[in-house]
Amino acid sequence: MAKRRKGKLELDWVGKGDIILTKFDEKGKTYPASYFQGQVSDEELMPREFELTESVGDPKSENMLIWGENLIALRSLEREFAGGIKLIYIDPPFNTGQDFEDYEDGLEHSIWLSMMQNRLELLRNLLSKDGLIFVHIDDIEQGYLRLLLDEVFDRRNYLSLISWERSPGAGIGQGGKFLINVSEYIYVYAKNWEAISRVKPTYKREIPLKNMKQYNRILVDKGRKELIKEFPSKSNNLPVKVYKRYDYEISNISLKDFENRKDEIVQEYVNNFENIFRTNRVQKENRFQQDLISNMDKDLYSVQYTPSRGRTEGQITELFYYRQELFSWLKDVAEIQGNALLKIDKINDFWTKEQLTSAGISGEGNVELRRGKKPEVLLDRIISMVTRKGDWVLDCFGGSATTTAAAHKLGRKWIMVEVREDMVKEKALKRMRNVVNGDTTGISKEVNWKGGGGFKVYKLGEPLIVKHKDYPSIKIINPKYYNTALIKVICNVEGFKFRKNDKLFHGVNKLGNKYAHITEQYVSQGYIDLIKNKLADNEQMIIYCFNYDEKITLPFNMIIKKLPTDIGKAFQLRLRL
Ligand SMILES: C[S@@+](CC[C@H](N)C(=O)[O-])C[C@H]1O[C@@H](n2cnc3c(N)ncnc32)[C@H](O)[C@@H]1O
Repeated sequence: MAKRRKGKLELDWVGKGDIILTKFDEKGKTYPASYFQGQVSDEELMPREFELTESVGDPKSENMLIWGENLIALRSLEREFAGGIKLIYIDPPFNTGQDFEDYEDGLEHSIWLSMMQNRLELLRNLLSKDGLIFVHIDDIEQGYLRLLLDEVFDRRNYLSLISWERSPGAGIGQGGKFLINVSEYIYVYAKNWEAISRVKPTYKREIPLKNMKQYNRILVDKGRKELIKEFPSKSNNLPVKVYKRYDYEISNISLKDFENRKDEIVQEYVNNFENIFRTNRVQKENRFQQDLISNMDKDLYSVQYTPSRGRTEGQITELFYYRQELFSWLKDVAEIQGNALLKIDKINDFWTKEQLTSAGISGEGNVELRRGKKPEVLLDRIISMVTRKGDWVLDCFGGSATTTAAAHKLGRKWIMVEVREDMVKEKALKRMRNVVNGDTTGISKEVNWKGGGGFKVYKLGEPLIVKHKDYPSIKIINPKYYNTALIKVICNVEGFKFRKNDKLFHGVNKLGNKYAHITEQYVSQGYIDLIKNKLADNEQMIIYCFNYDEKITLPFNMIIKKLPTDIGKAFQLRLRL
C-alpha cells in the first residue's frame, strides 16, 4: 500500500492508513477488524440509516443516542452535521492493555493509532468553523496522541493540554510504574484557532467567603474632586491628572455571623455591587504607580489617564487610591446572576481534584461503570466553558453517557454513539431516561436540574449492499431497503440531501443544481422522456435503477447509475488509503 507523505513531521506506524472497525466475535467479545486484512468490506463502510427504536420525553427533541460502531455512525452523520458540531469530547479506550470488566481496552498499539486516526479525521469534518475538540487520555498514549492530533488538526490548532488530577495521591491500590499515577490529560484543539483566538475561557462559581472578606468596602460617595497635579505620561505623552477627593464616604460590609446571615449579606453585596472594592499595595517595581502615590497622603484620590497598553489601552481610565493603596473593584472579578453573586475565574490548564472531584461518581446517573467513568463536574466545566445553550455537543465513545447527561442538564443539544449493546441499554439509556425524569445526582444540584427535554434512540441500520443469501459472491442491494427507505439511504450514500415530499427530485446536492432520482422500476426511453422535460438545462440528474434499456438515448444533463454496482464509488474515493 502506497504511503501518503505530506512532507511534514508526522508519526508513522505499521499499518498506518488501515481502517479499523470494532466488531464482535461469537462470544460477544469485541475485536478490532482491519480493512487491510479483508475483515472489513467497502460496503460495510458506506453511510447507513439510523433506525429509530425509541423516543424518550419531548417528541420534538433532536438529541440522538446512537447504538453502533462510531466510524460508520460518524460517516452517516456527516450529511446532516458536517460543520455543525460546536464541541466534541471523546474519552476513547486508553489502550492500557487490560481487559476491563465493562469494556475491552488494550488494542495493539499500531491498531489503536489507526483506529484513532480514522475517527479523528471524521470528527474534524463534523466540527463547526469555531468548533473545539477535547480528547481525554492517560499518560501511556498521550505522547503518540499529540502527534496524531497535530497531523489531523494541524499543529497551529493545538490550544491546550489540560492535566486533571483524577484521584488522590496516596492509598493502597494506586497504580503507576514508578510514581503514583494520579493524572489524566485532555488535549484541546480548535478546528480553526483563528476563529476562537479572542475567546478567554472563564469559570463562574458562587463567590467564596474568602473573597467576600477581601472585598468588604463600599465607596458610597466619591465626593467632589480638586486637581492637584497634571503631567504628561512618559509612555504616550497624554495628560495624567491627579485629584484629591473631599466629602467622600466609605463604609464597610460586616460579615459577622456569616452562616446565619448569608442571604442578607449577599443581598448587600448585590445592592452595592458597582461600588464594592478592596485596596492593594502598589508594587515597588511599578514606577508609574510609585510616582503617583508620592503625591498622595492617606486620603482618597483619583487619577485620570490614558493607558498605552493592557485591557483599557487608548481609553480614558480612572483609578482610585485610598491610604496610598490602589482600588480593585469587585465588578472586575465577579458577576451578578439573578440574586447570586458569582466569582469569575480565568481557567488554567491544571484541574485539581478539589475543583473537579471524582469522589462518588459511581452513583452518578444511578449507573455503574467500574473504570473509565468520568465525573459530571468535569464535563460541566468543559461544556460550560466553550458552548452556549442550544449548541451541539458530540461524544462518539459514549460509555455510560456522562457527556450527554451533563450536556442535557446544561441545555445543549447532543449526539452520543456507543458500540456496545449492553452499555447502551443498561447504562446510557437508563441514565438518560433518569436525566429526563429529573435525575438528582451529578451536577443536578449545581445547575438546578428538575428534568425535562427528551431524546431519540437509534440503531445503526444495516449496510445498503450485502452478499446474496444463496450466492455470496454476488452483491445485492439489501432487500430490507425498498420504497422511501431505499431512496433515503441512496441519497445518503451518494451525498444528496433527501427531499421528503418530492416524487421526482428525490435528492439534491449542496449547490442545488444536481438531483437524484431513485427507482425500482425498469427504466425505458418512455420513462426518460417523461422526466427530462422537468429538468432545466443548467440542472443535472442521476437516475439510480436496477435495470434499464441499454439502447436509451439520454439528454446531455442526465446519467444512469446501476444498482448496486455503480454506487458508493464517491465514498470509496474519499477513504484516505
Ligand atoms: C472510556 S469509555 C467512555 C466512558 C465515558 N466517558 C463515561 O464517562 O462513561 C469508552 C467507551 O467507548 C466505547 N467504544 C469503544 N470503541 C468504540 C467504537 N468503535 N464505537 C463506539 N463506541 C466505542 C466502549 O464500549 C466504551 O464504552
